[in-house]
Amino acid sequence: MNPIILGIESSCDDTSAAIIKGDVILSNIIAGQKVHEEYGGVVPELASRAHQQNIIPVVHKAMKDAGVAPEEISAVAFTRGPGLMGSLLVGTSFAKGFALARKIPLIEVNHLQAHVLAHYIQEREERHETPKFPFLCLLVSGGNSQIVLVKDFLDMEIIGQTIDDAAGEAFDKCAKVMGLPYPGGPLVDKLAKEGNADAFQFSKPRIANFDYSFSGLKTSFLYFLRDHIKEEPDFVENHKNDLCASLQKTIVDILMDKLVAAAKKTGIKEIALAGGVSANSGLRQAFLDGNEKYGWKTYIPKFAYTTDNAAMIAITGLFKYQKQEFVGQEVAPYARMGI
Ligand code: KG4
Repeated sequence: MNPIILGIESSCDDTSAAIIKGDVILSNIIAGQKVHEEYGGVVPELASRAHQQNIIPVVHKAMKDAGVAPEEISAVAFTRGPGLMGSLLVGTSFAKGFALARKIPLIEVNHLQAHVLAHYIQEREERHETPKFPFLCLLVSGGNSQIVLVKDFLDMEIIGQTIDDAAGEAFDKCAKVMGLPYPGGPLVDKLAKEGNADAFQFSKPRIANFDYSFSGLKTSFLYFLRDHIKEEPDFVENHKNDLCASLQKTIVDILMDKLVAAAKKTGIKEIALAGGVSANSGLRQAFLDGNEKYGWKTYIPKFAYTTDNAAMIAITGLFKYQKQEFVGQEVAPYARMGI
């Protein structure tokens, strides 16, 4: 019989719980935290307090929506890291308590692996095609930018990663200097649609191998605005759409150049996209163009499974459940963790 797994995610500022039966998701509840908006970024202490308030109602709703009673749950999977320590502690402690009370196995999940494995989440309505091994996954979020070589469900290797800021951070920080609210990524995307992507040029980093760097772009963007504002005080207001379009094109080019190079070097044509920044329309287009341009077969998960969510924790939990990879009550979260 298919196991029923409860997934718990609390690595940053979203509290999420999901129920999966086999590989079919039955519910995926996400409670965001508005409390950070006025600070222009996630405040760790406020995040962990909000997780404490949210965790019980979120798990309760996940079980209710799935039509699953606590006694039916076969195992509980939780995000062990990487993430904010105070936030991770809330989900980890809840999962440990739940497993202990129900006398069911406890499964630790690496948040980054889970982003990649989100491609394997199936829905009740219809099954979709999933990437074949080995494949490359471009994982881009607010905290990560990496190219992952995926050899099997639980066998992954990072072949390129950011040496400083993540792509999402580049969007958010540049948006902030333009006076856009946090998180600025989605707004940059929206305004970029009305702008000319070739209006302004920003320099791209020269980094070895398949690694990324975005901190230089952020600084050059800031200096570029500062210099132009001296001449034209309303420069940002007058050119917002063009600035967003040009910035977005630069970030997408940086991401795609390394992905294309990695695909060439490895000879892999199964290419997947994961993480919150995969919502970006410019990136999606450039990524999908790879089908025709390079003969790729591309995969992008549904939006709900690209941002932080517990469905991806639950599906990763399933693969570990099948291998009987369980942990004991002594398990503690890790703020920093490789893949
Ligand atoms: O994976 P995610 O939900 O969580 C974190 O890792 O924090 O990613 C959130 C990031 C934020 O930086 C947000 O600005 C960015 O993804 N993002 C976007 C878009 N939608 C979300 N960036 C650019 N364009 C978008 N449409």
